Amino acid sequence: MKLFLAPLQGLTTAEFRNLHEKHFGGVDAYFTPFIRLEKGALRKRDVRDIENSTVSRLIPQVLAANADELKKILEFLMPLGCKEIDLNCGCPFPPVCSKGRGAGILARQDVFAEMIESLSQYKDISFSIKLRLGLNSADEIKELVPVINSSELKFVTLHPRIAKDQYKGALRMDDFANFISECQKPIVFNGEIRTKQDYDKIVSDFPDLYGIMIGRGLIANPNLANEISGISESLSKEKFMAFHDELKDALTQRLEGEQQTLSHLLPYWEYLLPDISAKARKAIMKSRNLSDYTRNVRSAMG
Ligand SMILES: Cc1cc2nc3c(=O)[nH]c(=O)nc-3n(C[C@H](O)[C@H](O)[C@H](O)COP(=O)(O)O)c2cc1C
Repeated sequence: MKLFLAPLQGLTTAEFRNLHEKHFGGVDAYFTPFIRLEKGALRKRDVRDIENSTVSRLIPQVLAANADELKKILEFLMPLGCKEIDLNCGCPFPPVCSKGRGAGILARQDVFAEMIESLSQYKDISFSIKLRLGLNSADEIKELVPVINSSELKFVTLHPRIAKDQYKGALRMDDFANFISECQKPIVFNGEIRTKQDYDKIVSDFPDLYGIMIGRGLIANPNLANEISGISESLSKEKFMAFHDELKDALTQRLEGEQQTLSHLLPYWEYLLPDISAKARKAIMKSRNLSDYTRNVRSAMG
């Protein structure tokens, strides 16, 4: 069973991925947050995010509205030596979906089919896809299964929700089970894995999965993959602080100014260490500068 770190915009950056592998590891592949065209090119920071990556297996993820847009993105990525690419067909945000990207493409069967069929022209790249059950309805995916089955896709990651569910509420596990019974590609499950128990339940319910992808659970507890594999029982305070402090230093080096660094660090605390008190979390979130922040984090750790 493969274990993947999910792409999370603003969180699973090169600094996070590199330091996660250095301090914790246990992850078979790291996905970048989605990369898209902006004014006809890739954003410099997305290119740097790939170039600065040191993890043993990196899978850049791209967000394209159709086969043409995908082609343009790949023209930028191929010179960077990318050999594995993941297609984002699951982003639920209305401004993305309304332009036919992310989960938006799931409701446009012909455009989806054309993009997936176009993959066969890129002989040097191995593709995967990350998708939801649909944009408006969980029935949409049923129409896409034949295209997926006859494609070049190496594996398919499914987050069993539709776009309007965003990232909340019950997972649609019956629809996931239906998809598994129809899809002939290796399948990766993604959604709400926070503990080893959550992981074990999915694996026992669906023993034929190719892998499990974890997002927020691995941010909350960067040691989770090691707990799952039995290498370590729990996250040690010392290990967490060493990881955290190096992440803070790496962001300080890349970004200009304390406020920028702070604005990149605080979003992690929406998820990090779910067991600290609400008061300690609030204090961290209200930090006004880096020394304030460092003091609040130290005091949260007790
Ligand atoms: C802040 C945030 C950013 C995300 N960015 C991406 C992204 O760039 N690409 C993507 O495919 N999914 C993205 N996702 C979705 C996650 O990859 C994942 O599918 C979702 O969080 C459910 O998995 P989890 O319950 O293990 O976190 C994002 C989710 C969140 C909360």
